[in-house]
Amino acid sequence: MAKGFYISKTLGILGILLGVAAVCTIIALSVVYAQEKNKNAENSAVAPTSATTTSTTTTSATTTSTTTTSTATTSTTTTSTATPTIPADESKPWNQYRLPKTLIPDSYQVTLRPYLTPNEQGLYIFEGNSTVHFTCNNATDVIIIHSKKLNYTLKAGHMVALRALDGSQAPAITKTELVERTEYLVVHLGGSLTKGNQYAMESQFQGELADDLAGFYRSEYMEDGIKKVVATTQMQAPDARKSFPCFDEPAMKAIFNITLIHPSNFTALSNMLPKGSSPFQEDPSWNITEFHPTPKMSTYLLAYIVSEFKYVEDVSPNNVQIRIWARPSAIEEGHGAYALSVTGPILSFFAQHYDTPYPLEKSDQIALPDFNAGAMENWGLVTYRENALLYDPKSSSIGNKERVVTVIAHELAHQWFGNLVTVAWWNDLWLNEGFASYVEYLGADSAEPNWNLTDLIVQNEVYRVMAVDALASSHPLSSPADEVNTPAQISELFDSITYSKGASVLRMLSSFLTEDLFKKGLSSYLHAFEYSNTVYLDLWEHLQKAVDNQTEIELPANVSTIMDRWILQMGFPVITLNTTTGDISQEHFLLDPQSNVTRPSEFNYTWIVPIPYLKGGTQQDQKLGNYWLDTQKDQNASFQTSEDEWVLLNLGVTGYYQVNYDDNNWKKIQKQLQTDLSAIPAINRAQIIHDSFDLASAQKVPITLALDNTLFLQNETEYMPWEAALSSLSYFQLMFDRSEVYGPMKSYLRKQVTPLFEHFKDTTSNWTNIPETLMEQYNEVNAISTACSSGLKECKDLVSGLYSQWMSNSTNNPIHPNLRSTVYCNAISFGGVEEWNFAWDQFRNATLVNEADKLRTALACSKDVWILNRYLSYTLNPDYIRRQDATSTIISIASNVAGQPLVWDFVRSNWKTLFENYGGGSFSFANLIQGVTRRFSTEFELQQLERFQEENKDTGFGSGTRALEQALEKTKANIKWVKENKEVVLQWFTQNSQ
Ligand SMILES: *[C@@H]1O[C@H](CO)[C@@H](O)[C@H](O)[C@H]1NC(C)=O
Ligand SMILES: *[C@@H]1O[C@H](CO)[C@@H](O)[C@H](O)[C@H]1NC(C)=O
Repeated sequence: MAKGFYISKTLGILGILLGVAAVCTIIALSVVYAQEKNKNAENSAVAPTSATTTSTTTTSATTTSTTTTSTATTSTTTTSTATPTIPADESKPWNQYRLPKTLIPDSYQVTLRPYLTPNEQGLYIFEGNSTVHFTCNNATDVIIIHSKKLNYTLKAGHMVALRALDGSQAPAITKTELVERTEYLVVHLGGSLTKGNQYAMESQFQGELADDLAGFYRSEYMEDGIKKVVATTQMQAPDARKSFPCFDEPAMKAIFNITLIHPSNFTALSNMLPKGSSPFQEDPSWNITEFHPTPKMSTYLLAYIVSEFKYVEDVSPNNVQIRIWARPSAIEEGHGAYALSVTGPILSFFAQHYDTPYPLEKSDQIALPDFNAGAMENWGLVTYRENALLYDPKSSSIGNKERVVTVIAHELAHQWFGNLVTVAWWNDLWLNEGFASYVEYLGADSAEPNWNLTDLIVQNEVYRVMAVDALASSHPLSSPADEVNTPAQISELFDSITYSKGASVLRMLSSFLTEDLFKKGLSSYLHAFEYSNTVYLDLWEHLQKAVDNQTEIELPANVSTIMDRWILQMGFPVITLNTTTGDISQEHFLLDPQSNVTRPSEFNYTWIVPIPYLKGGTQQDQKLGNYWLDTQKDQNASFQTSEDEWVLLNLGVTGYYQVNYDDNNWKKIQKQLQTDLSAIPAINRAQIIHDSFDLASAQKVPITLALDNTLFLQNETEYMPWEAALSSLSYFQLMFDRSEVYGPMKSYLRKQVTPLFEHFKDTTSNWTNIPETLMEQYNEVNAISTACSSGLKECKDLVSGLYSQWMSNSTNNPIHPNLRSTVYCNAISFGGVEEWNFAWDQFRNATLVNEADKLRTALACSKDVWILNRYLSYTLNPDYIRRQDATSTIISIASNVAGQPLVWDFVRSNWKTLFENYGGGSFSFANLIQGVTRRFSTEFELQQLERFQEENKDTGFGSGTRALEQALEKTKANIKWVKENKEVVLQWFTQNSQ
């Protein structure tokens, strides 16, 4: 699935100076909310949020076993699976999180009937039945199958019925029970199933169609003032079991025959095309729609949706039916057109890239009003957040458009890599998601060839993840399979290491193999394993075969030897080059040099490093080269330079590492940049800035060297170097925006950005046109947001003028969509309650989610504490802020210097409530902890954080556990950094701001 959070590029650097406030209303609100939730659960016939602890004993007198184990293991509270309360007998297979390999599913026949209106208790429910056919692989007298929050409703005897498919007598069921902790339905048998025989197990059940964004759930939206309901699914990672009983592990592939019973004016969709639809006998106002059987596939990729949505359609060059579905009004207004126009080209690109046709007959993509992740790659029926699929040329920015095309490319890449060939277990999630996060740039580039998208991977993935991977608390990409068991452990894997480091090292691999060779190995891998499962070593093996079949590319070791270093040990190296002696060496890069690496590495934290380089003076006599560093230090490399020659390593930033040089080489590079920056490609100008700031944090170069590397920005108009500088300096902003350093820092930024601001003012004819390329458009936004936040008067006049023009005629927004985020935010921060209320009204009335998102983020920019406080209280009211948006809104408030203490007070006083209401496997806790602790840089804040950890030990931190460790480490590093650098930095900014 695609990453859940879209961090607005334009707001990163904005600082708004504010004070502190109280949080009583919010606490009160969240308590009421928790009670509301419990009340619903108690009244419910289905008891969806409380445990379903049904257990039936056999009526036969032969068994005297009691059901005490089941009542003991399944308490009636809603405890998180991460914190088992009763110690279970681990030797029993139903107390283990991994399925035994005794039974292998072949096919399922599943019928589901979602009710799209509430029942007498006010609950939305679904009913269903399912028959699973499975083969006995090893004799056993117990059937263990996943089941979560389902109530079984078979009238006669037990929760399920069992028969043998060869007509023989199946063993009798003696007892059935639900084990809540491990999410199993357990069927105890009077005798053994026979190895090699096939069986069918039948069940009937009810579940809640809750608004919890997991399993089979409901999403709601308004159309013409009427509330509409959609029944939809999100199975990944382990929630198919919440929809019907199933062997819910990715390697348990099977064929699925899905049937949906739905109101006849609704449309039913699933992975496959329908065989047909006919009136439902029991009630002719309903239809019954039966879908074609799926290919052999994993449960987590299933999808079914019942809605009143409309679509636009097209047929791809390879005859695949393509449809984009959304709310009727969104489709009527044409918001699906852009997605439709890029899907065909992207499908064709991947079919060619993988050398394998698209595996299904159709590709549906659907935008859901409520959705937890960014998107989900369900085979043939991809689900999206609205802002990841819909695009309105009138109000969406170029950034929104880029997001649509890259998320589509990410999900479509999975239709082969992930869906056709699937990793055997979640510990290899990095291969699945890392791969898609890499090739999404290639797929999107094929649909938008003029955007240079493939370069953006450096800022968006490589640099973003290096910030995390350079901590001692990082973790290797690959985890051993037996360390990933519980749903919480699985959910914790969906982090930036998995996505962005995965993408970064696969891009490096593809780059040193060459894209062509990489594609050869890839298609051989896909052909060998289609419809089955793999481990990452299988991919290395097929890439190695491709290498062995040619002679042009020579590697210093085989693929798996090289790659093991990058995926089995955490972190990455810093390469240090001395151009006087020619020595080159590597070392594990740690942002905090004093931090303790407690995790051992069998490779001693050394890597086999591909180094493309550029040796130059003037542009005419530049030399390109390729070098491999496969030892800790190489004293025989020929990197010495003459007087006016410099060396630049990691050309194109294809390598996942950083680079440091001797002082002399740094000086020569700086001189080159200040005299003629075009001698160095823009992507490496960005690298020079990025790496030097990280090196300064790690105390490998003086902080003044990094700051000196930003002096050339006065002449820089390209996006990537500016973006690197702004994101590096955003750390300075976080550390210093509450101190006396901030004044001189603002003056320096204002001085550097003024020429850029003027440049865009000129090239856009006084802000009336929009620059041509994607990156120019992004950089225009950087120019305005930096100019405004650094206090350029002309910028303030520009944004306030535009905003008040809009306020005076709200039906006619004069602000170009690209500029809206930054104009809204700055105008709201310069303004008062009137400006805020106007934006709030616009937010409430926004029909397009892109527009709503911009306003929602900008509302967090106010300088008024009471306004921010009120806004924070709104985030817990789902009528105001959709639940999927609660965390990201809270994080926006925390990124405001005034909102941060407010949010911190809120989080620590409400952790338990938040955890219980929003917990259970969503991604957001890690983001929340990370977001709220970003500025922490004092001993006092460190103590608070430690106390927070101590006080909430019993509640636990779920998917935020690792983030909390990282926050503690980061805070300690910040404290030290500020202590060591504050004076020098103050001095440097003061000197250079004239
Ligand atoms: C499942 O339910 C549908 C609809 O009520 C019914 O037609 C079908 O026969 C049921 N299947 C089983 C196995 O009970
Ligand atoms: C079958 O189960 C028995 C007992 O649990 C076990 O010892 C044996 O290794 C299993 N065989 C296979 C092929 O899994």
